[in-house]
Amino acid sequence: MQDVWYSTSAFNPVILSLPFSGKVKLEFEMIKKKGKYVVAIAGATGAVGREMAEILEERGFPVSELVLLASERSEGERLDFQGKKWTVKRLTKDAFAGVDIALFSAGGQRSLEFAPAAVKAGAVVIDNSSAFRMDPKVPLVVPEVNPKAITRHNGIIANPNCSTIGMVVALKPLHDAASIKRIVVTTFQSVSGTGKKAMDELAGQTVALLNFKDIETDVYPHQIAFNCLPHIDSFLESGYTKEEMKMVNETRKILEDDSIRVTATAVRVPVFRCHAESVNIETGKHLSPNEARALLSKAPGMIVYDDPAKDLYPLQIDVAGKDEVYVGRVRQDDTVPNGLNLWVVSDNLRKGAALNAVQIAELLIQ
Ligand SMILES: NC(=O)c1ccc[n+]([C@@H]2O[C@H](COP(=O)([O-])OP(=O)(O)OC[C@H]3O[C@@H](n4cnc5c(N)ncnc54)[C@H](OP(=O)(O)O)[C@@H]3O)[C@@H](O)[C@H]2O)c1
Repeated sequence: MQDVWYSTSAFNPVILSLPFSGKVKLEFEMIKKKGKYVVAIAGATGAVGREMAEILEERGFPVSELVLLASERSEGERLDFQGKKWTVKRLTKDAFAGVDIALFSAGGQRSLEFAPAAVKAGAVVIDNSSAFRMDPKVPLVVPEVNPKAITRHNGIIANPNCSTIGMVVALKPLHDAASIKRIVVTTFQSVSGTGKKAMDELAGQTVALLNFKDIETDVYPHQIAFNCLPHIDSFLESGYTKEEMKMVNETRKILEDDSIRVTATAVRVPVFRCHAESVNIETGKHLSPNEARALLSKAPGMIVYDDPAKDLYPLQIDVAGKDEVYVGRVRQDDTVPNGLNLWVVSDNLRKGAALNAVQIAELLIQ
């Protein structure tokens, strides 16, 4: 009889492996300890920024004051947090006086321009953009994978790329057990990964096409409704895109192993929320699919949902809004001695961005 590795409860409250609790023993204090903290969100009106405020509230992060920052376009807008209305202010270098933790999610240019000012004002910055990720002085952290890296921070901690986060959460237990040598990954990334304008573009094009009207193409170079684009971020001379190279370089930095060979193809798909990834790995030691599932089901922040006989595998529409990384379709790759294929799905706005940032903040204050 076939082993069943799913929990019928995976999309109900009972889960196979408990999500990461945020508890890890760190050697020294990384932020001045307080009962409550002044938290700023730069990019508060964006897809990730709004999710950050929601997750801070949901997880009961001890916030004494929330400083909401965005462009002049949103100045004066009022957002809800902990039952109160908070006014959005303009992101300036002076906006960080008294701030303890600054969550940045307003694009790389804004991070480069304003994060140093936030650090100078005394805040610890957790940055969602790619501006500092590969800086050797800046830790690149996924709390389930390399929590201790945050002890090396000098004021800025980087949040990895949304596709990298889901993949490394799934690969860490397999790497620890069997030493990953090579990764071939193809992503199926939702439009919310580009931001709120891209979500509007997918909705607008879908409605227009179903009504036999012309579409407007603004965010992407081609129609995204009913279409897949093998193009995320700009192209490099090598033919790869920047997004693909983020997955290569960030994976090695987080797993602290430059010998891992990684090749990526990043594809934008007409899905609103959640990124899926087909991940093929070669390991030093042999791992059977059952051994891999057993390791994954014990790993923090992971859910194994894998019963093809019942058509059960993680779907983007089901994982949207979830905190954990889901894995299914675990199977042997018989074309190499030690190969495995996995299907990994995670919510890009939560685990791929806002949740990971808040988990880093939780590590800072614990
Ligand atoms: N979406 C994801 O899944 C994801 C995952 C990981 C990392 N990230 C990174 O997170 C960042 C934000 O992404 P997003 O998806 O939330 O984008 P978004 O929905 O387009 O939101 C962008 C935010 O940045 C603000 N902003 C833009 N230009 C600004 C300026 N000149 N001054 C001050 N604020 C400015 C916007 O304010 P206004 O509303 O006033 O324009 C808005 O709050 C990007 O660096 C992105 O690479 C995103």
